[in-house]
Amino acid sequence: MRVLIAGADGQIGRALISGAPPHAQVRALGRARLDLTHPAEVAGIVREIRPDLVVNAAGYTAVDRAETEPETACAVNQEGTGHLAGAALEVGARMIHFSTDYVFDGNQGRPYLPDDRTNPLNVYGITKLAGEGAVLGALGERAAVIRTAWVYAAGGHNFVCTMLRLLGERERVTVVSDQIGTPTSAASVARAAWAVADSADLHGIVHWTDGGVASWYDFAVAIREEALEAGLLAHAAEVLPISTEAFAAHARRPRYSVLDCSATQGRLGMVPDHWRVALARTLRELVHA
Ligand SMILES: NC(=O)c1ccc[n+]([C@@H]2O[C@H](COP(=O)([O-])OP(=O)(O)OC[C@H]3O[C@@H](n4cnc5c(N)ncnc54)[C@H](OP(=O)(O)O)[C@@H]3O)[C@@H](O)[C@H]2O)c1
Repeated sequence: MRVLIAGADGQIGRALISGAPPHAQVRALGRARLDLTHPAEVAGIVREIRPDLVVNAAGYTAVDRAETEPETACAVNQEGTGHLAGAALEVGARMIHFSTDYVFDGNQGRPYLPDDRTNPLNVYGITKLAGEGAVLGALGERAAVIRTAWVYAAGGHNFVCTMLRLLGERERVTVVSDQIGTPTSAASVARAAWAVADSADLHGIVHWTDGGVASWYDFAVAIREEALEAGLLAHAAEVLPISTEAFAAHARRPRYSVLDCSATQGRLGMVPDHWRVALARTLRELVHA
């Protein structure tokens, strides 16, 4: 199976590369080689590689910045994704694309199923929802969209790395306690994506996160505990809860965006680790780095 991965330098991109199965011949390109906003470049590279499968791990992921850069977010997440889907169609490739819990408004009060009503609250979520439409509209049954959430890895820009830095630098760190979701390791997302890649008849929208639920505050407390236990921090700041209103981020976010992943678990025959187990494993990677 020839696989082209776009967004190779991101946290999911890197996890896809390191978790690739032996039967996948992977060409993984970062933004410098494959920029989704350059349609001719995208079409040219896909024609040259002629992959059986295109995996799009590229995306504009700066949720707050997207509020003031909607054109850029749209150019990558909607139009750029559409360019890649069009190129995949041209060579007859399947495509796997990643989307987000932020396509939902968080008002449902129970975990979201793939078919539940979307209603994004922020620019990032709007552009990601449009990107889902671009992929599924172009490729139909040759595409799978994996919605995931709160992704982190041992490196890159993510909540875990930011918290480790702030816990080491400050006396106190305030973290939002009234947004609930599921922290998910990039390695877990990659594992699910490779399983989707090996399930030729799987198409449409699927949900995948690690197990359990947490607030950002719970997540931060767990990072602190695990980092102290692992010896990653000698001193760690106190973690204090704060409300969404008091935190006043640029972008609105859903209050409860837990994804119901039971259908995906059944179809792939896979059960994710609880997020706390995956977090401890990821922090151990940092100890050995
Ligand atoms: N992170 C999360 O919590 C989360 C949750 C749900 C879904 N997702 C989705 O999962 C996918 C991967 O996310 P991630 O967490 O791995 O994000 P990430 O670490 O920010 O990686 C995204 C990658 O895309 C690249 N990129 C940006 N603009 C591009 C362009 N025009 N052409 C080609 N590449 C471009 C970035 O390059 P630069 O660094 O040079 O900008 C970066 O390497 C995204 O679609 C995201 O929406 C993420």
